[in-house]
Amino acid sequence: MKKCPVSEYCGGCQYLGMKYDKQVEIKQEKVEKLLSSFHHVEKIIPCKESLNYRNKIQISFGYDEDHHIISGYYIPNSHLILPIEECMLCDDKINQIVSSVKKIIIRNRISIYDERTKKGCLRHLLIRSTNTNEYMIVLVTGSFNLMKKERLVEEILRYNPDVTTIIHNINQEKSSSILGNRNQILYGKGYITDELCGLKFRISANSFYQVNRYQTEVLYNTAIQSLDLKKDDILIDAYCGTGTIGLSCAEYVKKVIGVELVPSAVKDAETNRKINQIENAEFICKDAGKFMESLSRNKTHIDAVIMDPPRSGSDIRFMSSMVKMKPDKIAYISCNPVTLERDLKYLMKYYNIRLIQPVDMFPFTQHIETVCILNQKNKI
Ligand SMILES: C[S@@+](CC[C@H](N)C(=O)[O-])C[C@H]1O[C@@H](n2cnc3c(N)ncnc32)[C@H](O)[C@@H]1O
Repeated sequence: MKKCPVSEYCGGCQYLGMKYDKQVEIKQEKVEKLLSSFHHVEKIIPCKESLNYRNKIQISFGYDEDHHIISGYYIPNSHLILPIEECMLCDDKINQIVSSVKKIIIRNRISIYDERTKKGCLRHLLIRSTNTNEYMIVLVTGSFNLMKKERLVEEILRYNPDVTTIIHNINQEKSSSILGNRNQILYGKGYITDELCGLKFRISANSFYQVNRYQTEVLYNTAIQSLDLKKDDILIDAYCGTGTIGLSCAEYVKKVIGVELVPSAVKDAETNRKINQIENAEFICKDAGKFMESLSRNKTHIDAVIMDPPRSGSDIRFMSSMVKMKPDKIAYISCNPVTLERDLKYLMKYYNIRLIQPVDMFPFTQHIETVCILNQKNKI
């Protein structure tokens, strides 16, 4: 295997240099240690490709001591940039585009934004790809102005003809978030369209989308098939992002209601519903906890919930409202077994666990995804 030149400093791949079988074994042990007292943990589903699986890269720009432009990943827990030429976890084409855009930035003497003085222009570069070979470039600036805009677009397209859309994003916040809320389309449609579970999904710059281009369908199918959905079920897709899971379930149920906090993701979800001609789904832009509370207050009947919260897990407002509505079955998809353990402790007062299935979405890193299926206690 090719050796990553920055593995010692980067911190992104905690398991670099370790055989994939061993990585999977460690992840299995980690999930078992946290969750096996609740229920038997199934054998982890490995990823068929352990490298070049990522469909997204986020690169930051800065200057070195000699005022030369550098670009790469932030060193963990610091604001220092580790220059990288390529990331072995990313799609090869993404690496080629990063290298090309970097050369274009340097050649055109685009200034780099300084967070302290708030002067300069370019901050970050985000690239996303789809299984259908569409590529999105997002140039993130700290000021409203993107220097030499037309020229940059012309050169990016000349050297990277596969790029289908280019976006200028403005992020003036002093935070660890890569993207700000304002986007201007410089080229193309402003989104890319992926295919997943037989459906088409539109992805905008700010929307969450699963990053593993091989394993997302495996993850979704594990949850959907294990949930035993019925034709007259009302299903909540909580923390739904662009609606990918809920829309993939629509053909099996009576109605899907998705809820998500990020407005652009909800807009994408609604568009995805339309382009796939799905009539029995709707998407709400709201905090998932507040939304479940309002459903519970109105005594809304629900049969099933798929919840896929961020790493911080769910919250008591969401879970207490959910259990009051007594859905028969819940699929909890978690990217953090620690918060999953915490949330299961609460849910197990009301629900029995039927399945704990780890799925490896992030080879060479310590991260692990887990699908947990729960059934209402008195229904089993
Ligand atoms: C792990 S992602 C899952 C997205 C989607 N299910 C998928 O597979 O693409 C978590 C999602 O929860 C959203 N989110 C975070 N906090 C939320 C909240 N309090 N209420 C609703 N959605 C939230 C994020 O914006 C993100 O889209």
